[in-house]
Amino acid sequence: MSETLAADDETMPAGASICPGHSLAQPPGSDTDLRRVGINPNFWYPVAVSGDVRKKSAFAATFAGMRIALYRGESGTVYALEDRCAHRQVPLSMGVVEGDTLRCCYHAWTYRGDGRISQVPYLPKGAARPPRGVRCYPVREAYGLVFVFPGDPQAADGTALPELPEFSSPRHKTMTFSRTVRCHYSFMHENLLDMNHQFLHRGVVGRLKPTLLGYDTTPQSVQARYLFTHAGGKKNRGADLLSGGTSSPDVLTIRTSYPYQTLQLVPEDAELPAFSLWVAYVPEDAEQRVNHVYGLLMIEKPPVPGAIQLAWPFIRRFTQRVFAEDRTAVEAEQRAWDEQGEDRNHEVFPLIMDVRQVLRSNGVPLPGAARCGAASCAAAALPGGAPGGPPAGGR
Ligand code: FES
Ligand SMILES: [Fe+2]
Repeated sequence: MSETLAADDETMPAGASICPGHSLAQPPGSDTDLRRVGINPNFWYPVAVSGDVRKKSAFAATFAGMRIALYRGESGTVYALEDRCAHRQVPLSMGVVEGDTLRCCYHAWTYRGDGRISQVPYLPKGAARPPRGVRCYPVREAYGLVFVFPGDPQAADGTALPELPEFSSPRHKTMTFSRTVRCHYSFMHENLLDMNHQFLHRGVVGRLKPTLLGYDTTPQSVQARYLFTHAGGKKNRGADLLSGGTSSPDVLTIRTSYPYQTLQLVPEDAELPAFSLWVAYVPEDAEQRVNHVYGLLMIEKPPVPGAIQLAWPFIRRFTQRVFAEDRTAVEAEQRAWDEQGEDRNHEVFPLIMDVRQVLRSNGVPLPGAARCGAASCAAAALPGGAPGGPPAGGR
């Protein structure tokens, strides 16, 4: 015997949302250790590459310890539900997509895209009512990524997705990155904004001399401009192709605009950027000591037809090598924090102080356990305890 639950069931008033409100506590103060500041959930965050959310199968995503089941319905629409069946908490991402609903793999309870239960196949007539359903998240698909709004769903419509006009420009081709990095998201912002770390990349790019031309800070952003000159050593072919192959010095503009980050390279004699990078660092675990990097590198095509295809493998190899070196450094920073249980940095670069304050003041307190800096607590959050495993998707 089965019972299909009607949408106008009294436990599920029409138009009601399963999504609970998400109230945020006061932002962390200026003396708070930044590595204990959570990312603000009231923004759109990518949690999957669109191509990984296929029809007929569900995808297990995560945001700061919230497990999210993504699935693409028959109509092509992507839905995001709390990844925990209301019956016995088996992940819904293990379930089966039927039309635009998701059926739990265990006892086949079925959920609509708004999280409401539409069917309990074996429910006898007159039996106690099943739970209302599970939380749903607002979802949007853009730029080849699936974005969810993990915060207050009421704020989703009024919050803009990032604007990336180059993504759809026929003059640009986009390289997508999706990788797990085992560190707090703030280390990523600092890494990209502080270009004084070119020594780390000396084996890949030779001797690059960055000169800070200036920077601007607002309550939500820090933007820095650097002039890059090559001071010796072997030049990298991928780097040359990426910068449009000009021999002139390059001006690099890097911006943290909470919670995202962008980087653009404008050759000295050009009006348009040779490339621009947009990145989001999405915490995976509740302690936010692991983040997933979603990046879109939009590269202007050279005028010669087909040249971009030839350049592509060199650019990819270059970016992979640089990223691998950055990953080594930021993960080492996180390990030091975990061992010490606190931030003992001695920072000397003013714009890094500024970006720390931007990340602090726009962030939210982490829940209870994550505030504990004791080594034993930190160890529990480390590999083995933390999710992530190998780089997601292998990209
Ligand atoms: S655990 Fe999902 S239907 Fe039973
Ligand atoms: Fe770097």
